[in-house]
Amino acid sequence: MRRIRKAVFPVAGLGTRFLPATKAIPKEMLTVVDRPVIQHVVDEARAAGIEHLIFVTGRNKGAIEDHFDQGYELERTLAERGKLRELEELRRDSPKAGETSFTRQQAPLGLGHAVWCAREIVGDEPFAVLLPDMLHHGREPCLKGMIDAFEAQPSNIIAVSEVPMSETHQYGILGVGPPGRRGLMPVNSMVEKPPQGTAPSNLMVSGRYILEPGVFSILETQPRGAGGEIQLTDAMITLARARPFNAFRFEGRIFDTGTKLGFLAANLAYALERPDLGPALRDELRAILSPAGQKR
Ligand code: UTP
Repeated sequence: MRRIRKAVFPVAGLGTRFLPATKAIPKEMLTVVDRPVIQHVVDEARAAGIEHLIFVTGRNKGAIEDHFDQGYELERTLAERGKLRELEELRRDSPKAGETSFTRQQAPLGLGHAVWCAREIVGDEPFAVLLPDMLHHGREPCLKGMIDAFEAQPSNIIAVSEVPMSETHQYGILGVGPPGRRGLMPVNSMVEKPPQGTAPSNLMVSGRYILEPGVFSILETQPRGAGGEIQLTDAMITLARARPFNAFRFEGRIFDTGTKLGFLAANLAYALERPDLGPALRDELRAILSPAGQKR
């Protein structure tokens, strides 16, 4: 059986829902507490045993490459000033030489196109895709659970999370059969943003995928779909006609940090669980929410 060694991070999107913050700063570099969003997602991939990180970038995304580079001058200054804890943390977060690849999506033609741009670096092996906007907050890292399930039952796997039925029209939704080994559910249908009342379930596609390399040849010739973009969902629908596809239910909370509300909620959730920040932040929130705080 082939191991999942490589993960693709499509980071070429324009982030228009988060303007003006994203005019000059990639949305993936906005911080949830004190770590860029992309670092949280890379942490998840590394916790799942991923060895090679592939970033599909675009214009104005240079800060992401700098973030995952070694900050030689910074590290030397920290060492000289005796800031050894900070130095240790930076070194722990930095991927080692040769563990990252960066490729450019020259035009934002859609998520499917961004994934296709990684084909030469991925090669002929199954791989993971993580959408960096979508933070998966739970006891077990989402991708780790998916890879464990893949090892028990190799197939294409899409992570899903439950949403209220009234919100299904905003998301990609999967229709599934009863759960089998490791809780994997066979996928019967995939629909992008189903009109109200037509969704096959309330299971939202949450932005984590394990895909077989056959998806690349499908994307190669796939016409543009919804929004004039080359859609990953369309390629997966084609792949699912020939290959097994399963859904993996993530038992945690999803924060869409590509939206302002999701980003704010993620900051609160991640900060509140931190021993160094949580108690003081709780006090701040109480003060802000008190009638006196609201009048200020
Ligand atoms: P989004 O739908 O969040 O699009 O893409 P976006 O452009 O980043 O953000 P908005 O909608 O304008 O606010 C989902 C994921 O696919 C990547 C994005 O970077 C994000 O991680 N993506 C999307 C690409 O890499 N290239 C594309 O052409 C489109």
